[in-house]
Amino acid sequence: MTPPVVRKVLYGGDYNPEQWPQQVWDHDYQLFDAARIDTVTLGVFDWALIQPAEDVYDFSLLDRIVGRATTEGRAICLATATGAHPPWLARAYPEVTRTDFEGRKHRYGQRHNACPSSPVFRRLSAELARRIAHRYAGNPSVVAWHVGNEYGGACYCALCAEGFRDWLQKRYSTLEALNAAWYTTFWSHIFTAWDQIEPPSALTEHWRGPDHTAFQGITLDYLRFMSDAMLACFLGEKAAIRESSPDTPVTTNFMGMYRPIDYHRWAPHLDFASWDNYPPDDTSQARMALTHDLMRGLKDGRPFWLMEQTPSTTASREVNPLKRPGAMRLWSWQAVAHGADGVLFFQLRASRGACEKYHGAVIGHAGRSDTRVFREVAQLGAELERLGGATLGARTPARVAVLFDWDSWWALEISDGPSRLVRYQQVVLAYYTALWESGVDVDVLPVTADLRRYDVVVAPALHMLKGDLARRLEEVAARGGSVLTTFLSGRVDEDDNAFLMDVPGPLGPLMGVRIDEWDARGPEFVNPVRLRDGETELEVEARLVFELVIPQGAEAVGTYRADFYAGTPAVTRNTFGAGHGWYVAAGLDQRGVSWVVRRVLSAHDIAPRHPDVPGLETAVRIAPDGAELLFLLNHGEEPVEFGVTRSGTDVLSGAHFESGQRITLDPRDVTVLRSEVG
Ligand code: GLA
Ligand code: ZN
Repeated sequence: MTPPVVRKVLYGGDYNPEQWPQQVWDHDYQLFDAARIDTVTLGVFDWALIQPAEDVYDFSLLDRIVGRATTEGRAICLATATGAHPPWLARAYPEVTRTDFEGRKHRYGQRHNACPSSPVFRRLSAELARRIAHRYAGNPSVVAWHVGNEYGGACYCALCAEGFRDWLQKRYSTLEALNAAWYTTFWSHIFTAWDQIEPPSALTEHWRGPDHTAFQGITLDYLRFMSDAMLACFLGEKAAIRESSPDTPVTTNFMGMYRPIDYHRWAPHLDFASWDNYPPDDTSQARMALTHDLMRGLKDGRPFWLMEQTPSTTASREVNPLKRPGAMRLWSWQAVAHGADGVLFFQLRASRGACEKYHGAVIGHAGRSDTRVFREVAQLGAELERLGGATLGARTPARVAVLFDWDSWWALEISDGPSRLVRYQQVVLAYYTALWESGVDVDVLPVTADLRRYDVVVAPALHMLKGDLARRLEEVAARGGSVLTTFLSGRVDEDDNAFLMDVPGPLGPLMGVRIDEWDARGPEFVNPVRLRDGETELEVEARLVFELVIPQGAEAVGTYRADFYAGTPAVTRNTFGAGHGWYVAAGLDQRGVSWVVRRVLSAHDIAPRHPDVPGLETAVRIAPDGAELLFLLNHGEEPVEFGVTRSGTDVLSGAHFESGQRITLDPRDVTVLRSEVG
């Protein structure tokens, strides 16, 4: 039987038949047929089943599971089964369990908790991956390899300490360079031997928690090292897979804006990106869009998979809200609108026991198909089938880039001063939200990305400025583009040491400002900011951080209204070459951020698509054949009505629309308009 490989958006999810007797499998596959589920992710937590003892590998159950999925004609995303390790392993090799931030050596329990530096863990996990790949690589139904599961956390054991020292030797070569980078003369920390270096934890450099450190340099390097150590585990498994499976793509499921792992360091090693989307509530539409764009940006705009989402409810939160009718469908389409070529659930069948028994599933404990959730899953399945291959490989034609940088995130949030209240994701999200509300397509990119194809580059809270980025941003402006950055940008170099020049460091010439002082206040403190550009004017509120700007050529577009710096600039625009550098010196409220962003966009004739239709999200993808796909998603609680901007055919209903024709979209409804080239 031919698997339904990449002729349509893959649809399905994590499936654990190992938890169930055979008659349940029969029932499940009937229901999968009814819901047009064509893809199953298998074996994520099967290590203990496959390897019940160190010298025993038993594939009999996995053979049956994979065999059944194959005869059922499903595409298989096959895991390497290393998401959790078996008890015997921890018992035989105590080194595999982690030591936590407080220095507590953990014993066996939970999952995702192996020490990433443990040679035993690396050897046995790679060996398992090797054997699984060897056994199933010849099966054409296996369309992707799923390594591990949601890598994350951190370990502070002796093996990690050793690994850290090796990593540091590679990075710095000499202790002299390391001491300089970490600024160790401060508080008498000059290291004279590598083995004096301890992982930064509650027992060493930290107080209060992981964000409070005496030395940002060591903490930052430990974050980088941990990210690399886990990457090494992934790479070990990937290399083992490649011994027998040279071509089938390899991925691992990311967690979106997940702070502990620098996904940009990982991205080159994945064949495609995939991620798990578990929004905390039903007001996270912009955040989800941002995260989709970030995940798409990992592989230079190539499509990703939505590897997991709940069809209904999570279980791990204190309170687990149910997705309202239509929300799962709408958010699935949102993923496709932002570049997903796969839409998968966790989970296809609810587990009966343990901590996820109340996590939503396509099929619940009663095994019914006449539930609301199943009906919605089946409806989406039918729609994706109708969509066929129309979106496969389609790319987002963005003229606007937002820079996202894990180093800046870390540096900002482990910094003492100016304010612990400034959170990196919130600042990025505010600027992204302004773009999202304008209906503008955005690429969210690493700071190393090629910026030459963008008219507008937005770099919120770009705290750390690395390499030649300042020069590349200057080039964007010099050729007529706009670069926007904010307070707390351009502060430190890649070692987290301050630049010995005016703030915002190497961004100074582009921004045309100088900052000598800054004020930070509690969340209740507001300094009003008057924004004015030509005829447009708005008074908004600023909070948290207020930088005092001394223009060095830039013009004021916004001014503080209160305090001893009333009347001085809070937002500036500097002419640089044929373009501009915009600097937002304070934490403007969303209205203020949106106003500034709209001014920037209007300078490039990037018109908001439907600015007056609240709750309407738009996104465009260009299919490989050149056809334009315009996604229109109504996130609101009310129907919306608007005129379509170009003629096209709704790929879901087949209805044709002429340019300008009115269209009504019900709450949580979606339309995908396909327009031919030309
Ligand atoms: C994560 C994991 C899954 C499952 C879900 C439940 O995304 O990858 O194994 O635990 O969460 O929300
Ligand atoms: Zn460790």
